[in-house]
Amino acid sequence: LPRVLSGIQPTADSFHLGNYLGAVRNWVAMQDDYDAYYMVVDLHAITVEHDPQALRRRTRVSAAQLLAAGLEPQRCALFAQSHVPEHAQLAWVMSCLTGFGEASRMTQFKDKSAKHGVGAASVGLFTYPILMVADVLLYQAGFVPVGEDQRQHLELTRDLAQRFNTRYGKAFTVPEPYIIKDTAKIMDLQDPTSKMSKSASSPGGILELLDDPKVNAKKIKSAVTDTEREIRFDEENKPGVANLLRIYAALGERTIPELERDYEGKGYGDLKKDLADLVTETFQPFKERTEEILADTGKLDAILAEGAEKAREVASRTLAEVYDKIGFLSK
Ligand code: TYM
Repeated sequence: LPRVLSGIQPTADSFHLGNYLGAVRNWVAMQDDYDAYYMVVDLHAITVEHDPQALRRRTRVSAAQLLAAGLEPQRCALFAQSHVPEHAQLAWVMSCLTGFGEASRMTQFKDKSAKHGVGAASVGLFTYPILMVADVLLYQAGFVPVGEDQRQHLELTRDLAQRFNTRYGKAFTVPEPYIIKDTAKIMDLQDPTSKMSKSASSPGGILELLDDPKVNAKKIKSAVTDTEREIRFDEENKPGVANLLRIYAALGERTIPELERDYEGKGYGDLKKDLADLVTETFQPFKERTEEILADTGKLDAILAEGAEKAREVASRTLAEVYDKIGFLSK
């Protein structure tokens, strides 16, 4: 089976709808057709100031949500990044292959450091993409299911894999991004020209999966649209309606043309009400499952420990090969 690897940051108390549609849903769909490795990237989560108690809680909440979404420990390896020390070890090697200028071109660092100024950002935030490179390459992943915002990091991953392979001999599979266009960039409900994001969005613009279903229904109903009345998919002129149609199509397993036909002659209020119901139907059981899973911390931690063991088998093999190729003495 071809291999797949992806990760999500434990930096919030709930995943948002963008995480779910852009990534998590695809992870679940891929676990049978791929040899799948999925992780909660706690090493990445400390690149910005954080509270240790919150990190512990959010790492478990993240893992629980992944299980509630349908990941099954028998069908994939689910683990915490920090449980596999090879991530940090390979990141060092890859950072020595990365140009300073090359790293400086990563737009996510520019965006994230802009708020408080580059000088206030951690070096870890700067080298974040290189740790992500190591994440992917350790597993020889052929495919990496992510949203559009991770594309540049995967280009860096491909470049560095090729660079290593050319300089020192082939050690890495060169991965492909696996980005499903229709759901790769879910937009903010209040500002449909920017992506839904835990850092940038206003609270009304971001739909958190574990939030009270009533709150979420209300957020859908107050989503920004436009002053026309017609329900049609036009991203340029009607970004709010287009975003709602994309979300509806993805959650309801319908096509956008079908939805356009169904809502011909109807108003935005009808569309929003139906979508709010669909969101409630989808995420109320999800929330309940997540809470059940979180109630048994022992079991959850055991699943992560087992996942880490599976992951280390693959990761340690890659790292040994890299250490050898690069000229480190074997022990
Ligand atoms: P993170 O934790 O920010 O986001 C997790 C996943 O959700 C996707 N996503 C979105 N998709 C569609 N629309 C949106 N509005 C939206 N917002 C977020 C992200 O693209 C991502 O797939 N650097 C990564 C984590 C990571 C990783 C890895 C991913 C670390 N190592 C190795 C893949 C492979 C990140 O910060 O994702």
